[in-house]
Amino acid sequence: MRVLVSGGAGYIGSHTVIRLVEAGHDVVVVDDFSNAKPTVVGRLEALSGRPIPVHAFDVSDADKTEHLFAHEQIDAVIHFAGFKAVGESVAKPLDYYQNNLDSTFSLLRAMGRHDVRTLVFSSSATVYGAEPQLPMTEDLPTSATNPYGWTKVMIEQVLTDVAAADDRWRIAALRYFNPVGAHASGDIGEDPSGIPNNLMPFVAQVAVGRREKLSVFGDDYDTVDGTGVRDYIHVDDLAAGHVAALDTVNSRSQPMSVWNLGTGQGVSVLQVIKAFERASGRPIPYEVAPRRAGDIAASYADPSKANADLDWRATKTIDDMCADTWRWQSKNPNGYPDA
Ligand code: UD1
Repeated sequence: MRVLVSGGAGYIGSHTVIRLVEAGHDVVVVDDFSNAKPTVVGRLEALSGRPIPVHAFDVSDADKTEHLFAHEQIDAVIHFAGFKAVGESVAKPLDYYQNNLDSTFSLLRAMGRHDVRTLVFSSSATVYGAEPQLPMTEDLPTSATNPYGWTKVMIEQVLTDVAAADDRWRIAALRYFNPVGAHASGDIGEDPSGIPNNLMPFVAQVAVGRREKLSVFGDDYDTVDGTGVRDYIHVDDLAAGHVAALDTVNSRSQPMSVWNLGTGQGVSVLQVIKAFERASGRPIPYEVAPRRAGDIAASYADPSKANADLDWRATKTIDDMCADTWRWQSKNPNGYPDA
C-alpha cells in the first residue's frame, strides 16, 4: 500500500516509517516540523535505503491536505500528527482542541472525498482516565483528566461515529501505553524540546550529563516499591503494531476497531532507574519529590486483544528499551542536529 504518515518525522511516526518500508509499503510523510527536526528525514532515507517524499505543512490546513490527496496516490493513512504535552494542554486548551481535532477533520474529509477509507489513529491509554481498572481492557469506559487526553477521547468518538455512518471505512484506534526506546541503529529516537516531561528521556539526559538528577514523583503509591508503575513498550514494537493493524484492518468485518498496544507488564520508576544504570553503566542520581498532579499509581495493558487479532506482540524487555535509548542518547547527546 502507499501510506500517508502524518507526523511521520516525529518519535513514533519515524520508527513506523522504517517498519512500513521494511514490510514493503510505500510511504509519504506529511509533517509541519513544529516538534520534529528536518534532519530526521535524511536518517530515515539512509536507514530505509530509499527516498521518502515529505510534504512540510500542518494537516489541519484543509486546503493543503485536499491538494495533497489530489496529487498523490494514497491508499491508507496513519495519523500521528498532534500536540502531546499534558501540562501544556492544561495551559493552552484551545490550542490542543483546535489542532488535534482540526487535523483529524481535515484528513477525514480529504480521505472521504478521495475514497481513501483506511485509517490508523494514534490514541493513548490516557483514555482510561483517572481511576482505571487493571489491567486495562478495551471495553472499559473512556474519560480524561486533561485537554490532551480529552482530544484522544473525542477523536475516538468522532471515528466511531464516522465508521457507524458509512461502513466502507476501516478505522483502527491504537491505545499506546508508554512508548520508550529507539531504533537499534541509534540513529533515530526521541528528541524532546526543552526539559523532558516523560521519565525515560529525562533519565537518559541525566545519564549523559545534560541534567543533574531525576525527581521521582512520589514514593508512597500503593505499588511494589511505592513509585509509579507503567507499561513501557519499545517504540519498535509499537511501530510493528501499526503495520500489523494496517494489514489487518481491511480484512475485518466491522468498520471500527480499538486495540491496546502494551506489553502487559508493569514496571516501577525505581525499576526503570536500575535498568538504565545496567544498560548505561552510569549512576542515575535521583531524589524523591512530591507526586505529580494528575498521575495515577499504576497503568498496564491487557494486550490480549491485539495479540489475538493482529498476530502481534511486544517482544522487547525493559533492558532492551534502556539499551536502545542509551545507544541513541550517547550517539546523539543533544538530539538531532539542526541541519
Ligand atoms: C504521560 C502522560 C500521558 C501521555 C504519555 C505520553 C501525564 C500525567 N501523563 O504518561 O497522558 O499519554 O505521557 O508518553 O503527563 N516520573 C518521574 N519523574 C519524572 C517523570 C516521570 O518520577 O521526571 C514518573 C511519573 O510519575 C510516572 C512515570 O514516571 O509514574 C512515567 O511518567 P511519564 O513518562 O511522564 O508517563 P505518564 O505519566 O505515564
